[in-house]
Amino acid sequence: MRNDIERVFFTAEEIENKVSALGEQISKDFEGKNPLFVGVLKGCFVFMADLMRHVSIPCSMDFMAVSSYKGGTSSTGAVEIQKDLGQNIEGRHIIIIEDILDSGNTLNYLQSYLMTRKPASITIATLMDKPSRRAAPVYAKYSCFEVPDEFVVGYGLDYDELYRNLPFIGVLKPEIYTK
Ligand code: IMP
Ligand code: MG
Repeated sequence: MRNDIERVFFTAEEIENKVSALGEQISKDFEGKNPLFVGVLKGCFVFMADLMRHVSIPCSMDFMAVSSYKGGTSSTGAVEIQKDLGQNIEGRHIIIIEDILDSGNTLNYLQSYLMTRKPASITIATLMDKPSRRAAPVYAKYSCFEVPDEFVVGYGLDYDELYRNLPFIGVLKPEIYTK
């Protein structure tokens, strides 16, 4: 699997440093607010699991599953909700946990969708941000890494459902994408 990687973008250690600092920052910013962390499956699962262990305030967690990708490397624009929240979020402070903010189509849709349920606030925390690709007006208050317009895998992120289990983030060799 590692032979498929052309270049490592962020090592496990670099990720750990950023993610722990983010957990501490969120703990300060949301002190006394009992936030509800909403992970966007599947890409969020590694990031969220690590992040939550650095959050030191009372909080709860839930998950949604959405799909905007159909196996390729670019967004189709259409978002489908595959798994919804299991609780009422009225009056709650929501922190959406996302692996990567790309076109913004997914989070733009998700944010408006959740807004109709009258939460107290919605904040976005993303592991990575690709601002050059933004097509929808989405702002992430928290972002660990800014990345250029390249398709990255590892630490939860996949290419065609593979590579999520890599402990670092990297770019695949070009021949893998054209297979
Ligand atoms: P958006 O709707 O275009 O912002 O796409 C967001 C979703 O696309 C992310 O949650 C990822 O699942 C996927 N995605 C976008 N860029 C990448 C990438 O470089 N690697 C892996 N998945 C990506
Ligand atoms: Mg995702």
